[in-house]
Amino acid sequence: MSEPRIVLITGGAGGIGRGIATAFRDAGDRVVVADVDADAARATADELGVAHLALDITDAEAAARAAEALEAEYGPVGVLVNNAGILSVHGALTELEPGAYRSIVDVNIVGTFTITQAVARRMIANGTRGAIVNISSIGGRQPTPGMGAYESSKAAVDSLTRWAAIELAGHGIRVNAVAPGPVLTPMLRMGMPEGSPAREAWSSRIPLGKLAEVEEVAPAVVFLASEGAAHITGVSLAVDGGQLLT
Ligand SMILES: NC(=O)c1ccc[n+]([C@@H]2O[C@H](COP(=O)([O-])OP(=O)(O)OC[C@H]3O[C@@H](n4cnc5c(N)ncnc54)[C@H](O)[C@@H]3O)[C@@H](O)[C@H]2O)c1
Repeated sequence: MSEPRIVLITGGAGGIGRGIATAFRDAGDRVVVADVDADAARATADELGVAHLALDITDAEAAARAAEALEAEYGPVGVLVNNAGILSVHGALTELEPGAYRSIVDVNIVGTFTITQAVARRMIANGTRGAIVNISSIGGRQPTPGMGAYESSKAAVDSLTRWAAIELAGHGIRVNAVAPGPVLTPMLRMGMPEGSPAREAWSSRIPLGKLAEVEEVAPAVVFLASEGAAHITGVSLAVDGGQLLT
């Protein structure tokens, strides 16, 4: 097994973040879950036996402080997983309030940029040949009515992935994204119970016939951060049961 790395996972207290944290922990890495919800971060970390941090990714100073504090406590961050995001803003183009759109842009785009910048600066300063994996969405490439605010933020995450990849490649830092289709987190499972019309409607769009389990998404993140992906940078890997084929 290779040396354990320090893996920082934003939004680590959420449905997918928790699954990603579990997968890195099981691969032998040292995981830190960071979340704006401090209590949830602590509870998740206690449950998984990993470290935690309260962090709002939209706060640039807090992000810089967090990157330094982590380094002082655990050593250089080797892997950053930008998983924190807001999914709950929905609305048609003709109806959505600009303020609602701004809230999603602030977290999903500016927040992802902010923590990436803070960690990349530390990686460069330390000579850490690290990996960054952004959690995007295939919605950034395939529209669904009413979800455009979220989806356009994820198109920007794909672009941010390529931006960071081209600029950080010279430092040996790889930047990729995993773009899931709908994932059966506890929240989504509750909102769309099995057999419900909403679940059936989504499933019918997916050639493999079902929504993803969290455990079907997390391994792609671990892979893109691993030595096995040493020559891969700037991609956004769809984990969508073939939905983009339709
Ligand atoms: N669930 C899906 O179907 C799905 C599909 C494709 C992509 N994604 C993406 O996966 C990621 C995780 O989604 P999820 O379904 O687990 O959602 P979730 O709401 O369960 O988790 C998101 C986490 O991010 C945290 N967060 C929100 N704003 C933050 C901030 N400013 N700073 C730090 N943390 C913050 C929340 O507290 C929460 O714990 C998101 O980026 C989402 O867009 C989800």
